[in-house]
Amino acid sequence: MCGIIGYSGQRKPLPILLDGLSRLEYRGYDSAGIAIIDGESLTIEKKEGKLQVLKDHLVDKEINGNIGIGHTRWATHGVPSDENAHPHYDNNQDFAIIHNGIIENYAEMKEVLLNENYEFKSETDTEVVAVELSRQWTGNLLETVCNVAKGLEGTYALVVITIKDPETIVAGRMMSPLVLGVGEDEVFLASDSAAILEHTNKMIFLENGDFVEIKNGQYQLFDIDMNEITREVQLIDWEVSEAEKSGHDHFMYKEILEQSEVIERTITGRLELGSEQIPIDLEHAKKFEKIWIVACGTAYHAGLFGKDLFEKVLGIPVSVELASEFRYREPIVGKNDLGIVISQSGETMDTIAATELLKDNGSHVLALVNVVGSSLARMADSVLYLHVGPEIGVASTKAYLGMLVGQLLLAKHWDEFNKLETSFDEISELPFLIKKALECEPQIKEISKSINDKKDIYFIGRGLDYALAAEGALKLKEISYLHAEALAAGELKHGTLALIEKGTPVVVTASQHHLLDKTTSNVQEVKARGAYVIAIGDNSSKKLQDISDNYVTLPEASEMLSTIISIIPLQFIAYHVANLNGESIDQPRNLAKSVTVE
Ligand code: F6R
Repeated sequence: MCGIIGYSGQRKPLPILLDGLSRLEYRGYDSAGIAIIDGESLTIEKKEGKLQVLKDHLVDKEINGNIGIGHTRWATHGVPSDENAHPHYDNNQDFAIIHNGIIENYAEMKEVLLNENYEFKSETDTEVVAVELSRQWTGNLLETVCNVAKGLEGTYALVVITIKDPETIVAGRMMSPLVLGVGEDEVFLASDSAAILEHTNKMIFLENGDFVEIKNGQYQLFDIDMNEITREVQLIDWEVSEAEKSGHDHFMYKEILEQSEVIERTITGRLELGSEQIPIDLEHAKKFEKIWIVACGTAYHAGLFGKDLFEKVLGIPVSVELASEFRYREPIVGKNDLGIVISQSGETMDTIAATELLKDNGSHVLALVNVVGSSLARMADSVLYLHVGPEIGVASTKAYLGMLVGQLLLAKHWDEFNKLETSFDEISELPFLIKKALECEPQIKEISKSINDKKDIYFIGRGLDYALAAEGALKLKEISYLHAEALAAGELKHGTLALIEKGTPVVVTASQHHLLDKTTSNVQEVKARGAYVIAIGDNSSKKLQDISDNYVTLPEASEMLSTIISIIPLQFIAYHVANLNGESIDQPRNLAKSVTVE
């Protein structure tokens, strides 16, 4: 949430900042701004609205300089407006600061400053830090930032420049992501590595409490007491093209289409027993007494899929938990438990807090994450990377698929008695099956025309199909703004059936072959109330095909793999409905990609 970019080097900062911000815009798009120092003056420009508004505003402006910072905002304190946009500055406009996170004690700090007659232009927590920097100025930027940071409660990735020291950038992090990109005599700062990948693939992922001082394209790392520290430089093997639309209208669409290739990467090297790429082997897995799968949103839905798998192969209870709830209750977590935390970004605040809880209780934490070097990857005892490449569309697609496949791989490696009824050979066919499943797009495009004007849409399924339904409904809601609801098909009759009337769209996935008759009966119940049924399955159900208004036929596969590929038509439904309605698919209202606030 909120995108941060910074540059120090010999090139003009403005194009680098604007380009970086366009790659970070998925993190927030309420307003955007930049600040650049050219040796003599500090220029700050910021605008409410999407980045394009700022770009249009800057089009004829010549801003030179050697250091600069930029920000794209997802509002927490104060409405989206020019005043609340970052960078923020102090009363003399000597300091400019950008910030991602929440300063929890800002109100108390502000009161003290108001009593001392400082003035404020915005409603943000960040402006308080800007004013505090000028109040506590010691003559040294690093020292001043560290001193101010000692008084901050909450979370931050912050980047500061000042006209009082025009060659220097100082940045620091506490719980919000910040990456340092190391180039030839130039240094970049960003909220995530994909934003600066075109300039360098050498990255340092700052840890909580780390600060960096950057001068003339060189950097030095410190802790909050200004002791010098070192951090490993990591090489990121993502291609720049993976973070581009490659001719498609939307990132989400491109990311749906590339699922076959990316899943090939997820499974590569992991289809043999004893593979070193599987972090916990069977002997270790058998020792756990309970598994907690903890995640948010789409990643939580992926966890619902994992529950059945792990219970089946290990014969131990698995609890799937919403991280935002888990962290505030008192779960009975033991030291012989395994926590599986799932996250695309690896930076989701609630999931990080839940991970801390698991670790504090002594359990082993395995992170399934996509972003290499992310906070969760570093906190966990073991990591299984999804390897699906950068996901830019706010609505998660390929990462969700990667989460399903990642869990299937783990379960398969722990499947001593072949309870999953899916072989490694079959799993190796997944990329091909995904390719075949993507062929349903033209049919889904047509179907979307018959539901895009509806207000309510229901997604139903049994067993693992219910986990899919939950994800299908979320996908549609977040980008089309239609009301969608997921239900375990057998639950309909306990209340929600009352809402089904003539023409109500009901989407059903029927990948659970052993539950097909039961699912078909539930479809008959909604049909009897006039529902417009879109069913998704393979050729094994003549009866379901006959009673559905539309039947989307997917390739034949084992039950487990059928479930995995059944998400593809649901992703297409969300995409095409939103596209028909002209919605902003990659930047849905009120949302942001990486949720680094509570
Ligand atoms: C929905 C979506 C969100 C995320 C959730 C967790 O399409 O992307 O629901 O799944 O915010 O994010 P990560 O996976 O980064 O922890």
